Amino acid sequence: MAITFALSTQPVERVRADVLAVPMFADGRVGPGVDLVEAALGGALSAFVAEAGFTGKPDETLVVPIGTGPGPTAAVLVGLGEPATLSTDRLRRAAAAIARSSSRARSVVTTLLAAASDLAPRAAAQALAEGFALGSYQFLTYKSDGKPSKLSRVTVVGGRGAETRAGLDRGVAVADAVAWARDMVNEPAGAKSPAEFAAAARKLLTGRGVTVTVLTEAQLRAQKMGGVLGVGQGSVRGPRFVRVVYQPRGASQTKTLALVGKGVVFDSGGLSLKTASGMETMKTDMSGAAAVLAAMSALQALGVRHRVVAYAPMVENMPSGSAIRPGDVLRMRSGTTVEVLNTDAEGRLILADALSLAASEKASAIVDLATLTGACVVALGEKVAGVMGNQPNWVEQVRAAADRAGEPMWTLPLPKDYRKLLDSEVADLRNISTGSYGGALTAGLFLERFVDDVPWAHLDIAGPARAGSDDGELTKGGTGFGVRTLLELVSTLEGAPAARSTRRAAKKR
Ligand code: BES
Ligand code: MN
Ligand code: ZN
Repeated sequence: MAITFALSTQPVERVRADVLAVPMFADGRVGPGVDLVEAALGGALSAFVAEAGFTGKPDETLVVPIGTGPGPTAAVLVGLGEPATLSTDRLRRAAAAIARSSSRARSVVTTLLAAASDLAPRAAAQALAEGFALGSYQFLTYKSDGKPSKLSRVTVVGGRGAETRAGLDRGVAVADAVAWARDMVNEPAGAKSPAEFAAAARKLLTGRGVTVTVLTEAQLRAQKMGGVLGVGQGSVRGPRFVRVVYQPRGASQTKTLALVGKGVVFDSGGLSLKTASGMETMKTDMSGAAAVLAAMSALQALGVRHRVVAYAPMVENMPSGSAIRPGDVLRMRSGTTVEVLNTDAEGRLILADALSLAASEKASAIVDLATLTGACVVALGEKVAGVMGNQPNWVEQVRAAADRAGEPMWTLPLPKDYRKLLDSEVADLRNISTGSYGGALTAGLFLERFVDDVPWAHLDIAGPARAGSDDGELTKGGTGFGVRTLLELVSTLEGAPAARSTRRAAKKR
């Protein structure tokens, strides 16, 4: 159920809602509205809280019955942790916790923002809206007895006027995009062939101020996209390539941010077949493409002023009589030849074509998102993405945007010394390293060969694209990781991504 956010300047006791949500810090400080709870308990709130073991730690909630109507019949106390360390991330999690504990209620009034007066009002409101909307996300398409959340109205008391309103609206737009990405990721692979995924993208993007092109298999051949065709040739469901252009009025034609997303709708490993358990979550291997397309859908609503072009290669990686074999050589779009020694290292093959297309279409900067390597999950775990690239400034700009958006990322190196691990006996490159370690880095080094010298940042989201359990604003399953970072990045780009000419000049020095 979509949630509508209202701002009220009334005192909280004057707002009609089913649930009253009041923040509480770990030092015992509570937000406005607590007197209603206190009154309902006849002054026994502190005893009640102590009895329940509620301490105001982050993510804690405590439901307190406070009456039989017509006002709120329940209060939810939500923990905000230590006041000194309050952050927008903490606020987002608190909002998600309220949404979860109030999913049977239709409306909530909350004083959460009154406790956040030290945070920038717009960012705080955005985080609040994201938390409510994403914390109540559900994927119920295939559940016979699913109970959709009833929460449809959140009234915010203690906001700060226009700034708060703008933040709430922004949070709603961002959360809508994230929810679409989650839906696509959660959809079973059987129901999202490359053609169906492309059609879903076209449907999403219609009326969003962008133009969408879907390349069919024949067009991919004409474009010599050997990587996409090679990976796709084992499946009866042929590959597609979605290209989306956002060209706001008045934006410079010469400065373009390119977004590239890995769209493997199912990764069986191909003839280098994965194990049964290794395949269980491989419907999520299109999370990068889903994130990029979702982000494109929100650019107009967010008033982004830069030209942005998205590239989403879509394939199914299957073993079959027509599949690519270990030892086969592919000629990529760029002309570079690749010896495919492991058909399970397929993401880099389709990304290579997309990256080289973005570079030859004169992108001034590139960001790619891909569930690329298990090695990145080994290095950083399931919650942190790896970020790599060919230009420290650009990588740092992306990482900083992720930080503000509340999506954890850590910078990894692309050591020149490791380039030789990709030397092939017969072709220009091999698609897997000759070594056994550092797989996230060698995958990044492979991609680097296809971006020319365009500033490029690569996000390996193999870990955080999926959550193993509900956690803050994340729900078990697809997370839509990366959408928030991309939207923060495009909204805060200084002037525009570095232009080609200045970059070349800088390099010669
Ligand atoms: N899609 C996988 C990476 C992955 C693994 C994503 C686990 C999410 C969770 C990718 O295509 C892959 O199979 N990578 C191989 C590369 C190897 C063959 C060099 C891997 O990581 O094992
Ligand atoms: Mn694979
Ligand atoms: Zn894969």
